[in-house]
Amino acid sequence: MKIAIASDHAAYEMKETIKNYLKIEKGIDVIDLGANSSESVDYPDYAEPLGLMVTSKEVDFGIALCGTGIGMSIAVNKVKGVRGALCLYPTMAEFARKHNDANVLVLAGRLMGSDLAKLTVDTFLNTDFDGGRHKKRIEKIARIEKQN
Ligand code: RB5
Repeated sequence: MKIAIASDHAAYEMKETIKNYLKIEKGIDVIDLGANSSESVDYPDYAEPLGLMVTSKEVDFGIALCGTGIGMSIAVNKVKGVRGALCLYPTMAEFARKHNDANVLVLAGRLMGSDLAKLTVDTFLNTDFDGGRHKKRIEKIARIEKQN
């Protein structure tokens, strides 16, 4: 499995924690798209390349982080084909995968502790899309994207 990860300054520390957790403890291939420090940056500049990496299938999933997760969530969902889900705890991540086939997990660096964030990441990466009735709904989202 290959993952791309990106954050702004507000979630830089959390990004490093999650990146190292995935690389070292889980042996997952992680591409880090920045930010590279806690110096102030603008989250849309990191959301766009992350989203494009996911939709071009260079990676299996993206993980995007900012302070609240809200800005990253709004920005990454502007990339066509991205289904980004802001998940504050594991059950949200479970259903983001099962029902929404989310391809980008968004985390709130300033609102979550690192243990909760790791559990949320694990749940997201280990849960499959349920398909079935949810597939039709995903297709309807794609249609909205195409028409607007
Ligand atoms: C940065 O100060 C903060 O606004 C950003 O990380 C995020 O929370 C925006 O939604």
